[in-house]
Amino acid sequence: MKKTVKDVSFKNKTALIRADFNVPIKDGVITSDKRIKESLPTIQYVLNDGGKVILCSHLGRPKDGPDKEFSLEPVAKRLSELLGIKVLFANDDKVTGSIADEMVKEFKNSDDKVLLLQNTRFRKEETKNAGDFAKQLASYADIFVNDAFGTAHRAHSSNVGVCAYLPGVLGLLMEKEVTMLSKVMDNPKKPIVAIFGGAKVSDKIGIITNFINKVDTILIGGAMMFTFLKAQGLQTGKSLTEEDKIDVAKEILAKAKEAGIKFLLPVDVKTAKAYEDTKDFKIKKINNIDSDEMGLDIGPDTMDLFAGEIKKAATVVWNGPMGVFEFENFAQGTLKVAQAIADNKDCFSVVGGGDSASAVKKLGFEKNISHISTGGGASLEFLEGITLPGIEAMSDK
Ligand code: 3PG
Repeated sequence: MKKTVKDVSFKNKTALIRADFNVPIKDGVITSDKRIKESLPTIQYVLNDGGKVILCSHLGRPKDGPDKEFSLEPVAKRLSELLGIKVLFANDDKVTGSIADEMVKEFKNSDDKVLLLQNTRFRKEETKNAGDFAKQLASYADIFVNDAFGTAHRAHSSNVGVCAYLPGVLGLLMEKEVTMLSKVMDNPKKPIVAIFGGAKVSDKIGIITNFINKVDTILIGGAMMFTFLKAQGLQTGKSLTEEDKIDVAKEILAKAKEAGIKFLLPVDVKTAKAYEDTKDFKIKKINNIDSDEMGLDIGPDTMDLFAGEIKKAATVVWNGPMGVFEFENFAQGTLKVAQAIADNKDCFSVVGGGDSASAVKKLGFEKNISHISTGGGASLEFLEGITLPGIEAMSDK
């Protein structure tokens, strides 16, 4: 068991909180503030306990260090609105350079309570977890709080490296994510239905393999269905397939058969001639896809088939869209799955991954889902049974 914020006192202390503020930003405007909102309980907890808060996070993947496009300044503004107090922003390209040093010094002697540092990925040492960056970050605070669940599968300076210099505890979001995701792993209520989508089988091999021996039913959608269909000898036309993963798909199908679980692939798909959002689509049975067609969503019979399985579930896990969710004409499969999960009010449901979470949000079904994870890759790796470095590095109870 790892220590959490509840195991330490923040009175007259400064906490360095690592959040995951890697939020979508378009033309300087934050298009989803879910991750920022989810960070508020931990920040408020530390403030209520008499501490000051210095926040850090990465944003995007800037290639060559500092880049205005990846500045955390919009996050500081949004955070200030949500908290209802001033949030200082240390706009320092070196993140922990002289500008930040000076601001932190003044901050500690002021009545201000919250300060956000610049994007940790402006420093090359961040992703390498090497050099002095972690030590410099740690020098600003007395306690380290890791609340960045979305980044917990990375071993970087700002979430793992700092623990060499400061005692680290989990934040409340981290605690919530671990508790809710663990419910799926440890004694989940049966029947369990797992739904996997997304483009690539290669991204999901670990989780599918781990789930074969745990669940009753696996439903496969998204472009990765075509690698499975090809593995069964079907023609998939111009649909996205991973030729080098056909053998892996065959192995997965064999394992599912051996385990005696239902492993359901789509029975029909929506096809188009090109990868574009067109009304000019066709509904095709999966054994009837022409060579000049590509499948971009599951078809109506598959939607009904999947909804029927979801209806019977006591536990549902969902990761990955059923089709090209960003195209209006090919979003229906993903929305139908979201609807089916929300309609099954008695089941324990966990949703992870950006598009699956967006589908739930688009329909206004967030309240009907037991847990929507803030992690994409992190929730996948957690459910694969992998120990996440961002959790592992925290102090034991
Ligand atoms: C995420 O959005 O999945 C996390 O913030 C991690 O981002 P990364 O994949 O760029 O490390």
